[in-house]
Amino acid sequence: MKKAILSSVKLDDNNASALEYMDCVRDIFYSDTIKKLDCFEQHNHTSRLQHSINVSYYGFLWSKKLGLDYRSAARAGLMHDMYFYDWRKPNALRGYHPLWHALVACDNAKKEFGVNDIEADAIKKHMWPCIINFPKYKESYIVSLADKFCAVVEFVDGIEALKKVSRFKLEKSN
Ligand SMILES: [Fe+2]
Ligand SMILES: [Fe+2]
Repeated sequence: MKKAILSSVKLDDNNASALEYMDCVRDIFYSDTIKKLDCFEQHNHTSRLQHSINVSYYGFLWSKKLGLDYRSAARAGLMHDMYFYDWRKPNALRGYHPLWHALVACDNAKKEFGVNDIEADAIKKHMWPCIINFPKYKESYIVSLADKFCAVVEFVDGIEALKKVSRFKLEKSN
């Protein structure tokens, strides 16, 4: 069962919120392409796939609440980090990571699933304000905000998981 971080909604279940979300992203969510992101770590013990689901689901929820194009936000969120390499391993062929990976993800998204203007803008500029390219659409700001929010929550969640493991090890050694 896949859930976004901090959410109790099972995304592959039959509840109303999950079904509405899935109507936006089903083709990407169940694709072999997106599943490959599970092999890469993103933030402190979170896989890139889980991070992408987190950003996608919160992008969907917040855009829906604000009366925006929640389908585009959900799709862009799921594809915003769709690059298949470990950015920590140096490679002279790649450019400045915050800009480069977003361009690669957008290129992959175009080839694999197709993107509309909002989705392309949201993917390419999701690193704003770490890059100076201002997003063009409100949905792009939502995806960028969801990306930062999820990164922080994932990081804290990873620390909590580490604390639990160390407590367990300490208790076992006593
Ligand atoms: Fe990213
Ligand atoms: Fe991200």
